[in-house]
Amino acid sequence: MSNVTLMSGEKIPLEMHKIRMVQRVNLLPAEQRLQSMQEAGFNTFLLRSRDIFLDMLTDSGVNAMSENQYAAMMQADDSYAGSETFYRLESVLQDIFQMKYFLPAHQGRACENIIAQTLVKPGSVVLTNYHFTTTKAHITLMGGKVEELVCEEGLKISSNAPFKGDMDNDKLQAAIAHHGKGKIAFVRIEAGTNLIGGQPVSMDNMRETSRICREHGIPLVYDASLLADNLYFIKVRDSKYKDVEIKEITREIASFMDIFYFSARKISSAKGGGILVSDQALFLKMRELVPLLEGFLTYGGMSTHEMEAVAVGFEETMDFNVISQTPIFVEALCDELLAKDIPVVTPAGGLGCHVDAKQFCSHIPQTQYPAGALAVALFIAGGVRGMERGTMCMQRNADGTEHLAEMELLRLAIPKRVFTLSQIKFTADRIAWLFKNRHLIGGLKFVEEPRILRFFFGRLQPVGNWPEKLVEQFRKDFGDSL
Ligand code: F0G
Repeated sequence: MSNVTLMSGEKIPLEMHKIRMVQRVNLLPAEQRLQSMQEAGFNTFLLRSRDIFLDMLTDSGVNAMSENQYAAMMQADDSYAGSETFYRLESVLQDIFQMKYFLPAHQGRACENIIAQTLVKPGSVVLTNYHFTTTKAHITLMGGKVEELVCEEGLKISSNAPFKGDMDNDKLQAAIAHHGKGKIAFVRIEAGTNLIGGQPVSMDNMRETSRICREHGIPLVYDASLLADNLYFIKVRDSKYKDVEIKEITREIASFMDIFYFSARKISSAKGGGILVSDQALFLKMRELVPLLEGFLTYGGMSTHEMEAVAVGFEETMDFNVISQTPIFVEALCDELLAKDIPVVTPAGGLGCHVDAKQFCSHIPQTQYPAGALAVALFIAGGVRGMERGTMCMQRNADGTEHLAEMELLRLAIPKRVFTLSQIKFTADRIAWLFKNRHLIGGLKFVEEPRILRFFFGRLQPVGNWPEKLVEQFRKDFGDSL
């Protein structure tokens, strides 16, 4: 956000845009919210959008686009091969990242599939600061294994560390020595580390990881899906970059990487994905898979209209006012909750506010998915849809036992430029009410459990009739309020 001070000294996340198109949302009564939840198998992924008041499930594909993005969509060239749209997007990406080759793909996980199919073999190891669900699934599908080397601070809920997504580079050196470089398919850095609370990675840390990888000849892969938030944090939390242009910061990061991929559903507020690479041999290997899995090389499964929006979205990502909107809203929500002693991941990261369900629902065992239960409770309490980021997101161990997650988080994503401050305050109010009544929240159990990515479409049941009791308490406390 531009530097604006209020007379009172109060800090507010001032929007540096105006809203000229809106979508109606419904706030159903609590009883109907419970009914929608029952129909959705107590899984927030299975709710219908028409029943949701504030959708904080994700920022993926739901960020607000700018007028310039919509305008650009009108000039798309729909040619199957050789589309001008492709060359426009390619040249924007080459200019920003200074990498030679661009491969289009329909979204982030498609890039992960191509990278895993190209580099991972049975028995390979991928070393990363922290995994992302779809990334890990593609690596394990190819017979590889993921090892996480995030710094110790990264797994603490409360911290003052400005860059909790940093790789522990000593552990990285040790892991390379332990496995031998031949076994390591690649090292992966995830910008704005998603599953530990949208926590950024520092420039110094990436520089060192890159030095180590180059010394050993191991490819360094960068997941740039959450790069926008990470750029903001480098600028505001690392004094060396205070006066450096966002584009220059971006180019420095890209200079460390061998492969750079992104979900354009997140970073450019449009829809799509892509891979950038400078090495010709790697490019040629990955290129073979694009027409096979995605589509011809000049669209890769994306609509050309979206590709135009992606190009403009990347240009706008170089604007500090654009990229600061989500982090300052996340901070505002975290601050509201912290003021009421509600446990959230600190410092506030990008992507969303992350409530610590392990503390919030300390009476619910991890095998009964406290973060999933809290997501259910919040929907019943306020029609707000969040996402479980905990044990439900893990795959069971080979012997069928639960693989307990290191963190049990309820993620409340703040899509870019979508919500207003009053909606944020309403959310904080309903969470505060739940915190007061947290003893009423109970656990969940699966009744239909898919083997892969079970959190997407698995169905659950509450342990006991706690959702009904929660609605009763809501009526007592709120009278006829929605
Ligand atoms: N990498 C990261 C860090 C992500 O956050 C995501 C998606 C992907 C890769 C996959 O990209 O969805 O375009 O295939 N994250 C979304 C989320 C789904 O809600 O956090 P995709």
